[in-house]
Amino acid sequence: MAGRLAGKRAFITAAGQGIGRAIALAFAREGARVLATDRHADKLAGLEGCETAVLDVLDDDAFTGAVQGAGPLDAMVNCAGVVHQNTALTCTDAEWEAAFALNCRATWKGMAAALPGMVERRRGAVVNIASAAGWAKAAPNRFVYGATKAAIVGMTKMAAVDVVAQGVRLNCICPGTIDTPSLGERIAANAAAAGGVEAARAAFVARQAVGRLGSAEEIAALAVYLASDESAFVTGQAMVIDGGWTL
Ligand SMILES: NC(=O)c1ccc[n+]([C@@H]2O[C@H](COP(=O)([O-])OP(=O)(O)OC[C@H]3O[C@@H](n4cnc5c(N)ncnc54)[C@H](O)[C@@H]3O)[C@@H](O)[C@H]2O)c1
Repeated sequence: MAGRLAGKRAFITAAGQGIGRAIALAFAREGARVLATDRHADKLAGLEGCETAVLDVLDDDAFTGAVQGAGPLDAMVNCAGVVHQNTALTCTDAEWEAAFALNCRATWKGMAAALPGMVERRRGAVVNIASAAGWAKAAPNRFVYGATKAAIVGMTKMAAVDVVAQGVRLNCICPGTIDTPSLGERIAANAAAAGGVEAARAAFVARQAVGRLGSAEEIAALAVYLASDESAFVTGQAMVIDGGWTL
């Protein structure tokens, strides 16, 4: 089926690589007019069918201005996030601040910028990218990451109930382990302790009951559904897509 997002205007953060990039391309293929943003200009190259703009979502004024300038929006995807590897005992103040600033505060700012126009037009869908980790599953060495991702689920639900009567929907996606550039960095970081890159990668694969990593395109397919009118009866949900990690 094509054209599932025909006529819709969509704004996507962190669209330079990984899940955000796959979502931008999938939305464009389904007919949305996409504004794909990322803080790295070079990563925005080759986003076929998308308008692009450099945006650091930690810059409140730039973020709000970009969302308002792109409107009226039908879909807003808050994808920017950072993964720290730490425990309650090793997490630093700097990691705590950085994780909550990007994963939670910027997600809030994105929602706050997009929702007024959606409420006014009585239509729109927000898709936040959380994680299976923190919300649906404990994961070792992901203390502050899991905390921020669980918070995104709470933020999504609380925001959803406040605008449900105005026809606006908010949902979040909780991916398992997805093969993206940032996962590659985590595999490289774990290689020494795991006994090599292949062993570190195998440890991530082993978490998925289906025996493989997920692809960014599989997450994008769920985002298309949540941004489309097919999901008109779905709001405030945290959708786990994790290859059976939480089975
Ligand atoms: N990869 C996984 O296994 C996985 C699993 C669950 C959830 N997630 C979540 O999915 C989202 C995307 O992860 P990924 O692994 O696909 O991406 P990634 O980490 O490979 O890429 C992230 C992108 O975000 C951009 N970015 C970083 N900081 C930014 C900022 N301040 N402003 C704007 N852009 C910024 C980067 O330039 C990059 O293009 C994150 O929120 C992540 O937590 C990923």
